[in-house]
Formats: sequence, structure tokens, C-alpha cells
Amino acid sequence: MTITLEDCRALDAQDPIAPLRGHFTLPPGVIYLDGNSLGVAPKAAAARVADVVTREWGTDLIQSWNTARWFDLPQRLGNQLAPLIGAGQSEVVCTDSTSINLYKVLSAALNIAREDSPARKRIVSERSNFPTDLYIAEGLCKERSLELVLVEPEEISAALTSDVAVLMLTHVNYRTGAMHDMAALTAAAHAQGILCVWDLAHSAGAVPVDLNGAGADFSIGCGYKYLNGGPGAPAFVWVHPRHADRFWQPLSGWWGHATPFQFTPDYQPAPGITRYLCGTQPIISLSALQCGLDVFTAAESLGGMAALRSKSLALTDLFIHLVEERCAGHGLGLATPREHARRGSQVCLTRDEGQGVNGAGSGAYAIVQALIARGVIGDYRAGSDAAGGAGKGNGGKVHKDILRFGFTPLYLGFEDVWNAVEHLRQVLDSGEWQRPEFNQHHAVT
Ligand SMILES: Cc1ncc(COP(=O)(O)O)c(C=O)c1O
Repeated sequence: MTITLEDCRALDAQDPIAPLRGHFTLPPGVIYLDGNSLGVAPKAAAARVADVVTREWGTDLIQSWNTARWFDLPQRLGNQLAPLIGAGQSEVVCTDSTSINLYKVLSAALNIAREDSPARKRIVSERSNFPTDLYIAEGLCKERSLELVLVEPEEISAALTSDVAVLMLTHVNYRTGAMHDMAALTAAAHAQGILCVWDLAHSAGAVPVDLNGAGADFSIGCGYKYLNGGPGAPAFVWVHPRHADRFWQPLSGWWGHATPFQFTPDYQPAPGITRYLCGTQPIISLSALQCGLDVFTAAESLGGMAALRSKSLALTDLFIHLVEERCAGHGLGLATPREHARRGSQVCLTRDEGQGVNGAGSGAYAIVQALIARGVIGDYRAGSDAAGGAGKGNGGKVHKDILRFGFTPLYLGFEDVWNAVEHLRQVLDSGEWQRPEFNQHHAVT
């Protein structure tokens, strides 16, 4: 079936959540397919941040901790975020970075899992998990003489043995967009007495998540991707209430104290998720994140996460269909699962080695650069060879170079998808990507 530009325009005209695009500042001429890396600025953010700086900080100064309710902003934003991830009220805080929050929850999970079973000495994760997750786990293993075991997705179930303390997974894979079955894997882990830590960096605000429904133990995720909280936005942390009061998290700073303004010399952890705070919070950044969360609150009346998910799947289906129809013969492959239940909100295309300029490399990086020059912003993730290449310990698996495209249904339309694929077709058909300027590598890809 051939899909035309007019068909895509008709889909946009019928799209019940199309008005949400009006909440965002999108530069003219840009088709932004990188919201899985850094989300677009909500229109309200500039005025909100200016108000925090000029009025709350500039005029009201230190009173704003009380009058502007700066002090409980991490909890208030956590409550606003909670419905997006299937968490209850008072179970989430927005704070620190994803890496730091992972250190806190992984430490707590290890303490709980090993309290009754000290023989559990392993953390299991996926070899192609995002590196910061693996590095934090590696550091904790070093500190506590434990072992980090890395496996392929299809090997996870078999790796859940009685010596494992924690299964640490990212729900939607950053390279491929493949999504795990959270409920099934959590149940399989629990059946072996193993606790689960879920990284929702590519899930929160992108796909419906039900942490409580899945019976998960701990979760963390980013504020700057699909939540549109701004560069370096505070992350979030969720702990199941059955665990929240059991252990101190290791960064036992004064914001996690039960009574911080009594300034006692000893630490008494606050009950519940508040103990997962550490020190003074970045109020300006939290205020920007609030503007991102406000858009999801506005989306509620238009169908909320269910409507966002159904549009996201329609956008990614359309992209896959058009790429396969219009860009055939250029060596592109699909790294993202076709099956809806296994797909996040991104599509990743592969390109084989030897297809680059003069047979060097894959050309994937240059194709992405040529697209960016045309205003179609996606990104590139390098592959790794069988010997390890870019990724240590890849266990002999070859990962191809990837062209990565994120689809944020809050601000992308079907016509955007059609135009993006048309640019890709032109870049490939004309060989424009082979130009020297597109083959020079930048520090941040
Ligand atoms: C799965 C995952 N976890 C964590 C991070 C980043 O963590 P941090 O915000 O601490 O840099 C990313 C960044 O892309 C990610 O994809």
C-alpha cells in the first residue's frame, strides 16, 4: 500500500492530540527526531524559569523556600510524574541524575536482597544496557566484591539463578528501541528471590508503564528525554513502598533526614521516598522540569498516555513503512522490533560496515549529519566489532552502526514523518551524505 503526503496530512487532521504541539517551541524548518535524547522546550519554560530567577529568587530571596514551596518541589513533581509510570502518590521524587539515583537504588536493592541471602553475589544486566548503568553497577561490584554478569536479552531468564541478588534492566533499550516485558521479567526474577531495578530513561512519558502493576522493586529515569525537562534536568527515583523504609540509601544527606531543620548530628532517615533525596536541590532546573510535566497533565483530557502510545505506534509504523518503501536499495536494515508490544518510541536503522565512502565504515554517521544539515535531527550510535570494539565485553556479538530516530507524539505529526523520510530518500539517492563535511566526527554524537 502506497502512503502519500496527502494521506499523512489527513492523519494529522484527524489526530486528537495534535493540539499538544502548541505547548512546545520548535524552531521553524526543523523535524525533531531526537526527543529520546533531549526533549523539546515547553513554551512555558522560558517564562517560568525567568519568574523563578527574577521574582522568587531575585525579589523574595530565601523566603521562597517556604512561600514558593521550593522545599517540597522534588516530592510535588514526583507526584505529578507518578501516574505516567504506574506509581502511587508519595512514591516518587524528582532529584539528582539518573546515574546518581541508580547508585542509591542499586545499593539499597543489594542490601535488601543480601540481608537474608549473603550468598547472592551477582547483579545481572543486559550487555547492551546504557553504559552508565553498567558502570555504576561495575563500581558497586568492585566496592562490595560482587560480580556483574552481562547477558543478551534472550539469555536473561536462564541467568536468574539462586546466586543473583539483583536484575538491573533498562525497559526500552537505548540503541534498538526494543522493550522488555516488565511484568514477566519481574515475576521471573521474584520467583528466584531476585530484586528488580528498572531504568525508565526511554520509557517515562514515551510508553505506558505500570511499576506497581508489575510488582517492580526500584526504578529510576531521566527528566530531559521524553519528559522535556531541559538539558541536564533532574531525574526521578521510585521505590516500592514495601522497600522504602527498609534501608538507608548510601547518600544519606540532610535532605533525606526526617527532621532536617533540627540539625542533629546523627542521621535519622525520613520515612518513605523522601530519604532518597540527598542535598539541596536545583530549584531552577526543577521548575523547568515542571513545565514538561505540565504538558502531560494537559494531555490527560485528550486521552493521556494511552492516546500518546497509540499515536507513537502509528508514527513509528509509518516511518518503518515509508523507509522500507522509499529508501530500498541503500543497505538500511531495521534494528527495532516490528511487534508493538516489544517496541518503545524510537526506530533504529542499521547500516553494514563497508557501505561508507570508499568502502570505509558504514556511512551511518554521515547520513545522520546530512539529515541534520537539512533540519531533520536524529542521532547516530556507533557499533562495535566482535573483539569488543567500542563496547567492552560485548561477548563476540557484532553491533552495527545505528541511525536513531525518536518519535515524541506530543509534538510530532504524520506529515513530519513523511517529510523526514523524503529527506532521507534524497540524501541517499543523491549520495549527498558522502560529502566530506558530513564525514567529520564531532565530540557529541
Ligand atoms: C538508559 C539510560 N540511563 C541513563 C542515562 C543517562 O544518565 P545520566 O542522566 O545520569 O547521564 C541514559 C542517557 O541517555 C540512558 O539512555
